[in-house]
Amino acid sequence: MNRILIGAQWGDEGKGKVIDLLARKSDVIVRYQGGNNAGHTIKFNDQKFVLHLIPSGILQPGKICVIGNGVVIDPEALFEEVAILENAGIKVKGRLLVSDQAHLILPYHKLMDKLKEESCKKGKAIGTTKKGIGPCYADKMARVGIRVGDLKSLSYFKERLAYVLRERNDFLGKMHGAYPFSYRKILAHFMKYRARLLGFSRDTPKFLYDATKAGKDILFEGAQGTLLDVDHGTYPFVTSSNATVGGAITGSGISPTFIDRVIGVTKAYTTRVGEGPFPTQFPAPLMRLIQTKGEEFGATTGRPRRCGWFDAVIARHAVRINGLDELAIMKLDILSGLPELKIATAYRVGGKITKDYPHAIFEFSKAKPVYETWKGWEEDITHVQKWSQLPVNARRYLKRIEALMETPIKIVSVGSKRNQTIFL
Ligand code: IMP
Repeated sequence: MNRILIGAQWGDEGKGKVIDLLARKSDVIVRYQGGNNAGHTIKFNDQKFVLHLIPSGILQPGKICVIGNGVVIDPEALFEEVAILENAGIKVKGRLLVSDQAHLILPYHKLMDKLKEESCKKGKAIGTTKKGIGPCYADKMARVGIRVGDLKSLSYFKERLAYVLRERNDFLGKMHGAYPFSYRKILAHFMKYRARLLGFSRDTPKFLYDATKAGKDILFEGAQGTLLDVDHGTYPFVTSSNATVGGAITGSGISPTFIDRVIGVTKAYTTRVGEGPFPTQFPAPLMRLIQTKGEEFGATTGRPRRCGWFDAVIARHAVRINGLDELAIMKLDILSGLPELKIATAYRVGGKITKDYPHAIFEFSKAKPVYETWKGWEEDITHVQKWSQLPVNARRYLKRIEALMETPIKIVSVGSKRNQTIFL
């Protein structure tokens, strides 16, 4: 069975844990978009791993992991991660395949990301991770990117780098007064990684086609979330890739006719890192409480995540865009002890009530949530293993989310460990 796992909010939904659980029943695990802006946290053998680029399935012995053509790769970050895994005794060689069509993040992409963010007027910055993601994707679309496979021919790579760098240095000098990047230094930087990177590189769309034909189970691991998707998210406060189901198709080269199920992951509340409107954001005291209890700090940048009530308007948007077949609801345990819980079922925008997500940022930023209030529960639920053992108010809360999303809940997570999971 081929399954796609999608974040149904603004990222950080807890996809790492779900992938780790589902990867056991998969033969191949694929990352298809984003880069090392992502941070998937997994607890494995009482050790905590934060993976930014390599699919979380690498922690499952024997699984093949693929970094697809839609991912942007910073070789330095990739090999740092390989080293962390290998030092922990996890074999990577022979289990990781990197698409030769994937684009490379070059040092100037990171500088451009940083300079752009720092030069923005108040309220205009995106709050990016400054990993060079946006500038790298921009170059891909402008057809001035450099791909992993370009490293195969040193003469082609050198010629391409010289051509692109001339343009980049010109732009950086004129726009930001930045020092020019040295061709020799960048070349030396890539030469350090070239042989190892080419050792991992592969025609991954063909690999995935052959794997499907051979009856292998493939899990597509999304990074970020629907509301950060460059087309379907809260544009311009988004990332630069397609974090929705279409991104899995183009970002891996798999045909949609080969996909069996799409699984959506959401937290039992909502979080967001970086700038941009967030209608259900908690007032400060509750935000601090949930931030601390839920350890809501970005896995990549360490920034505190903004926290808020469950927003069924954006979640329904995620259901529609991705055609979600089932849901995994994460971090339910963090809500224990709150006397009451709110769910936004609609927005009031300019005097009108709407149940639909408004695409224009100038409307979305004015959206005032229309809340329903549900009774909370006092009990610690971190040991609960079965649906029937959950407090009745927790079950009611989840049933309401299920009804609002018109999608069955199949997984409820009540803690970060693998065994703190209820399967339905
Ligand atoms: P970029 O992807 O670094 O360009 O950042 C664009 C926006 O996406 C910012 O608001 C980031 O905080 C957000 N973002 C990027 N990656 C993640 C992630 O893995 N989780 C949550 N937010 C993310």
